[in-house]
Amino acid sequence: MHSRAVFSNQIVPLLGRAIQIANPSKIVVVTDDNTSKHCLPLLKEIPFDLHYELKSGEANKTVGAYLELVEYLMQHKLDRNTLLIALGGGMVTDLVGYAASTYKRGIRYINVPTSLLGMVDASIGGKTGVDHQSIKNIIGSIYPPFAILSNAAFLKTLPVIELQSGWAEVVKHLLLANQTIPTQIPDMDNDSIAHWSSIKHKIVLSDPYEKNKRLALNAGHTVGHALESIMIHNNHHLPHGHAVAAGLLIESNITKDEYNDAWAYDQLVDAVPAVFSKIQIKAADIPTILQFMSHDKKNQHNDIKCALIKAKGEAWVTTVNLDVMENALLKYINS
Ligand SMILES: NC(=O)c1ccc[n+]([C@@H]2O[C@H](COP(=O)([O-])OP(=O)(O)OC[C@H]3O[C@@H](n4cnc5c(N)ncnc54)[C@H](O)[C@@H]3O)[C@@H](O)[C@H]2O)c1
Repeated sequence: MHSRAVFSNQIVPLLGRAIQIANPSKIVVVTDDNTSKHCLPLLKEIPFDLHYELKSGEANKTVGAYLELVEYLMQHKLDRNTLLIALGGGMVTDLVGYAASTYKRGIRYINVPTSLLGMVDASIGGKTGVDHQSIKNIIGSIYPPFAILSNAAFLKTLPVIELQSGWAEVVKHLLLANQTIPTQIPDMDNDSIAHWSSIKHKIVLSDPYEKNKRLALNAGHTVGHALESIMIHNNHHLPHGHAVAAGLLIESNITKDEYNDAWAYDQLVDAVPAVFSKIQIKAADIPTILQFMSHDKKNQHNDIKCALIKAKGEAWVTTVNLDVMENALLKYINS
C-alpha cells in the first residue's frame, strides 16, 4: 500500500502511465502559486481536466484552505473516481492528501513532490494533514497516495533556503541509516534523491501505522515542531527543515547529557551549523515552546515524548523531563 517514490527525467510518460492505470473520471492538478509557475510547465503534455491553485506557504496549510479545495471539488461535481495530482512541496502534498482522504470518504491522489523535503520525506508514507491554531498537522490522516513520481529537475527553481530545509530531513535519514553526513549540501540527482527517500520508505514499510519503528522518523521533530509553531505564532517564516535541524541538534544534546551517548551529537555539532543559521529564539520564549511541545501528537498525558537517536542510528522514544528540555533549549540559545 505504501508505494516507493520513483525519480526519473522521464516523468511525463511515467505519470501518463500511472494515470492510464488509475483510469480516472477526471484529473485535477493542484499546485501552489510557485509550482504553477515553475513546475506545471514541465507537465504540459499531461491532459489535466482542471487546475486548482493554493496560496503557497505553511501559513496556508489550514482548515480553511482545505475546505475551499473540497468546495471546489463539490462545485465541479467530481465523483469518487476523480484523481488529484499534488504538484508541490510538503504543504501541497499534505493538504491535497488530506482532501483526497476525506472527499467522498476517499479518492485517489498522486504526489509529484517538487521540493527536496517533499521528495525525501513529505510525499512518502501517507501522512496527510493541515495545521490549526498554530499546531502543526493537528488534523490529518494516514492515507497513502496512488503513486509518487518526481524529477530532480524540479529543484532547479527551488530557493536555496528551501533546499536547505529538505537537507535537514536527509541528515535525519542518514543518521537513522548509520551513514556519514556530509558537512555541505552535495550536488544531487535522481539517484541520490531516490536513495535518501528509500531510507524513509523502508522504515514506513516496516511499520505503516507508526506503532514502533516509524516513530524513529520523529527524531528532531518534538523540538522542531515546537520551534516551527512558535515562529508561526510570532509571524516569522521558518521553513520546516530549519526547525528540524535545530531540533536534531538540541535533542542529540539531551542524548549526550542524559544517556551518555554522544554519537548523534558528534555527527551534528559541525554538520548543522555548517548549513543552517541559528534560530533566533530567546530564553523568554521557552515557556511557550514547552507549551507547544505538550501538544505534540506523540505525547500521552503531559509528558514530552522524544524520539532520540543513539549510537549507529538506533532510535528510541522516551519521556523527557521539562527541566532537561528547558536546559537543552537554553544551551542552544547560549551556544
Ligand atoms: N506528510 C509527511 O510525512 C511530512 C513529512 C515532513 C514534512 N511534512 C510537511 O511538509 C511541509 C514542508 O514541506 P516543504 O518544505 O516542501 O514546504 P512547501 O510546500 O511550503 O514548499 C516550500 C516553498 O518552496 C516552494 N516550492 C516548492 N517546489 C518548488 C520548486 N520546484 N520551485 C520553486 N519553488 C518551489 C513552495 O511554493 C514554497 O514556497 C510542512 O507542512 C511539513 O509539516 C510532511
